[in-house]
Amino acid sequence: MELSFVLVFAFILPLIRAQVPHWGPCPEPAVQPAFNLKQFMGRWFEIGKLPAQFEKGRCIETNFTLKTDNSIRVVSSEILKGELRKIEGTGVIEDLKNPAKLGISYSYDILRLFHVDFAWILSRTRTLPDSTVERAKEIFANNNIDVSRMIASKQQGCDKTL
Ligand SMILES: *[C@@H]1O[C@H](CO)[C@@H](O)[C@H](O)[C@H]1NC(C)=O
Repeated sequence: MELSFVLVFAFILPLIRAQVPHWGPCPEPAVQPAFNLKQFMGRWFEIGKLPAQFEKGRCIETNFTLKTDNSIRVVSSEILKGELRKIEGTGVIEDLKNPAKLGISYSYDILRLFHVDFAWILSRTRTLPDSTVERAKEIFANNNIDVSRMIASKQQGCDKTL
């Protein structure tokens, strides 16, 4: 029922989140020290991701909102076949001492026979310089997350937004 993934942060935002199936346990990527959850809230554009079963459209963005119970409302939107679609999920901080690790569940069923790495590169701007994207990929690779299959997100022709 629940699909969780780990968010990995670069030294400065852009944020990188971590679909590639693997046998065995999840990788334990290093996360940004002194991570400021409040600063992380708000609107992020998807720059790149591992091929995932959801989010097939373009102009993908996500809005994170901190709720009073310290859970996080996650609203992602995309344009698919000319329609603006939204999915909503919930983020849970498993350890308040380590808020950079966020579990997020969307309402999708997943078999738990093996784990799947989800990785995204998110940005506050709709596009990022290639060098920044390369730096983000290096950080994934250094944390044993294979991003060789990462695909660039389409952020062109996005007149409809969240
Ligand atoms: C993000 O969500 C909050 C709370 O639901 C809302 O007030 C805000 O306008 C949203 N921001 C964007 C960019 O959609």
